[in-house]
Amino acid sequence: MDDVVVRLKDIFCTIRVLKETDIEDLLKIKNEIEIHRERLELQKNGKACYLGAVINHCVIGFVLISLDNKKDVMPYTNNEKCADMIDLFVMKPFRGKSIGTYLIAQSERICKENKIFFLGLDVNPKDNLSAMELYKRLSYKKVGELHLDGIYPSKDENGKDCEYEDWCIDMIKKLN
Ligand SMILES: CC(C)(COP(=O)(O)OP(=O)(O)OC[C@H]1O[C@@H](n2cnc3c(N)ncnc32)[C@H](O)[C@@H]1OP(=O)(O)O)[C@@H](O)C(=O)NCCC(=O)NCCS
Repeated sequence: MDDVVVRLKDIFCTIRVLKETDIEDLLKIKNEIEIHRERLELQKNGKACYLGAVINHCVIGFVLISLDNKKDVMPYTNNEKCADMIDLFVMKPFRGKSIGTYLIAQSERICKENKIFFLGLDVNPKDNLSAMELYKRLSYKKVGELHLDGIYPSKDENGKDCEYEDWCIDMIKKLN
């Protein structure tokens, strides 16, 4: 994909494919080197695209687009292949400036370039209502049932270790 420069109100942000040399920046956002390495490896093998939002040469957001079929939504795509949008993230100070929207728009473009005409995602409708509203605004539709997407170590309101159950719903969009 060619780099895309988009004009924001007061800053310029580039949406581009991430590379090995971005790992240092990525670790400042998500300090899990194995995850970033694995994503870059998937990208190298043509199985995914790891997109970043970059301001002043610093990565401030990312999203992974898995080009493998998101099998659990097949009943809702007439058995057409559906790519999977994973871990969309924009750093807090840069939120509300449409960067998430641009990352999603470029993700959709990448799917179409790869001849995939559905894009799907998992979102927790209870704990992530604002992200769900964003997807709805961009024409993503809820499909299927609420399901347990993962269980993660977390802290309760008293700072005690606990487990967080991530109950999510699938959303998909037919790309034109
Ligand atoms: C979800 C997330 C990626 C959105 O990123 P973002 O860059 O803030 O997204 P946008 O700016 O494109 O849109 C967010 C909202 O800001 C509003 N907005 C967009 N441009 C704006 C602007 N210039 N001024 C004010 N508000 C604006 C949009 O209307 C949108 O509102 P909505 O949620 O009511 O639809 C970001 O909040 C995030 O990283 N959250 C934590 C991780 C997460 O929850 N990821 C989703 C996992 S499913």
